[in-house]
Amino acid sequence: MRILGIETSCDDTGVAIVDHRRRVLAESLHSQTAMHSRYGGVVPELASRDHIARLAPMVDQCCAAAGMELRDLDGVAWTQGPGLAGALLVGASLGPALALGLGIPGLGIHHLEGHLLSPLLDEKPPAFPFLALLCSGGHTQLMEVTGLGAYTLLGDTLDDAAGEAFDKSAKMIGLGYPGGPAISYLAGHGDATRFVLPRPLLHSGDLDFSFSGLKTAVLTLLRKLGVDPHNPVSTEALAPRDRNDLAAGVQAAICEVLCVKAMAAIRMTGHRRLVIAGGVSANILLRGMLGAACANAGVELHCPHPRLCTDNGAMIALAGLLRMLEGEAPRGRELAAQACRVRPRWALESLSPPAPVASAV
Ligand SMILES: Nc1ncnc2c1ncn2[C@@H]1O[C@H](COP(=O)(O)OP(=O)(O)OP(=O)(O)O)[C@@H](O)[C@H]1O
Ligand SMILES: [Mg+2]
Repeated sequence: MRILGIETSCDDTGVAIVDHRRRVLAESLHSQTAMHSRYGGVVPELASRDHIARLAPMVDQCCAAAGMELRDLDGVAWTQGPGLAGALLVGASLGPALALGLGIPGLGIHHLEGHLLSPLLDEKPPAFPFLALLCSGGHTQLMEVTGLGAYTLLGDTLDDAAGEAFDKSAKMIGLGYPGGPAISYLAGHGDATRFVLPRPLLHSGDLDFSFSGLKTAVLTLLRKLGVDPHNPVSTEALAPRDRNDLAAGVQAAICEVLCVKAMAAIRMTGHRRLVIAGGVSANILLRGMLGAACANAGVELHCPHPRLCTDNGAMIALAGLLRMLEGEAPRGRELAAQACRVRPRWALESLSPPAPVASAV
């Protein structure tokens, strides 16, 4: 069984083919970061147009790389939400059209379910149940996962997501987007003890997060260093040592909060497996801190391969594969009803386990 996965929820066009043994047969990814960088953020209309131009050729490219024809596919999965409506529509048009034309099943997938399941592409995948820390550009959530589609939200961010905190801090200290990798790189040369930034809600007793105070703290520090964070000329003048130490301080604060809260959730729930996913889960300090904490607590830690932490087509293909294997594989009229149907706002915990459909394979 070979499933095509299509991801177009924001500014990455991702396509991949995954087989029933969870092997990634081919993958293709195009990041629009360079295109949006001159505007200081993602321009939704440009994102949609770029997905339209690239998606079909990338599908052909993936089939060729896997040594297959389109007609060899057994199913198509695309991201149905959450995300930018216009961007989602690109995948939600081509995905169902391909499946209908080929007479194979097709399924719209929740983007965060894709992230959450991405460690299952690993050679040693986690078994259910597990606790998941989802930390991406738009989300920071602790989820109890008892099975496919059985997700209970235990903690959420009250304001900015962890990735957003990396990105906003990076912007203020004169680094480009995405900020996470840039901060992580500079932090490697910095002293995290020089600027100790706030760790909001660290011991609040619940599992919620708050990261918006971090940007205010970075702003205050920059002003003390004589830098105007709103003036690019001024931020460029920031001394390399100050920039490195600030990056290290930001990274340490975010990672400590994520680690402490994830381990608190482990203690509260008694789970013996922790899964991390989403762009921030690529962070080396976070992986190291959680690795040490989990080893101490006798908990298994599962991280996606770094290239699968940020948006990609393989995680969408995998989520589609797992659901289709359980019989949720609409064809014909049920499949056609999904065409161009997107859900820009969609809570992960509202998902259900796979529902076998009458028209299933
Ligand atoms: N090594 C890293 N360290 C810290 N943050 C990182 C790293 N690599 C990527 N990120 C962050 O991950 C985020 C992007 O991740 P991802 O692609 O999963 O988010 P998104 O798709 O934009 O949001 P969502 O999945 O919530 O809709 C960015 O905020 C980026 O700065
Ligand atoms: Mg994402």
